[in-house]
Amino acid sequence: MKNILIVYYSRKGHTARMVRTIEDHLKEMGHNVTVMPVSEALLEGVDWDKYDFVLCGFPVLYGTYHPNVYEFVRNNCTRLDRKPNAMFNVTVVARSPFKATVEGNRYMQNFLTRSPWRPKDLKCFAGKIDYPNLNFFDKKCIQLIMKITNGPTDPTMCIDFTDWDDVKRYAEHIGKLAEQS
Ligand SMILES: Cc1cc2nc3c(=O)[nH]c(=O)nc-3n(C[C@H](O)[C@H](O)[C@H](O)COP(=O)(O)O)c2cc1C
Repeated sequence: MKNILIVYYSRKGHTARMVRTIEDHLKEMGHNVTVMPVSEALLEGVDWDKYDFVLCGFPVLYGTYHPNVYEFVRNNCTRLDRKPNAMFNVTVVARSPFKATVEGNRYMQNFLTRSPWRPKDLKCFAGKIDYPNLNFFDKKCIQLIMKITNGPTDPTMCIDFTDWDDVKRYAEHIGKLAEQS
């Protein structure tokens, strides 16, 4: 049994749902799991000594990560580097197989360029487009991005590109990494 910390950002709730799925599976594997939004980790701080393994999950919005994400990794990169750790990102471009690879996902490559923290294990997941729950501006922007990249543009549609079986397999992978730590 290991103590695992999951730090995440989620604007529209999809990454939060992925994190809950991972949390449930890790708990089924017998691990202790603490889940913390990155805003809480920044404001309240993290008791690093409590954890054997750290997993971070961050979605991409408008081509980048939320500023809190970079503030968190900047402030904590030494602590993160000292622990076994992993990071996943969530993007809609990852609905195409090549862009779901670490090498083919430019947002992952951007993260690796900008972040002082080098995650030891990386994963790219496809996220969700929930047109009915986007405001007017977001809806128009996402429709434009989708038009350019041959994706769905119907504003009445909610499309979940996430492979939830893969999320569960990933949770097992993380559990095993934590066990080796
Ligand atoms: C306003 C907005 C901007 C987005 N920008 C991008 C983007 O630039 N590139 C991309 O691949 N996905 C983009 N996405 C897709 C998100 O990464 C995807 O919807 C993800 O599931 C959002 O996670 P969240 O619900 O946890 O915030 C965007 C989504 C929204 C709502």
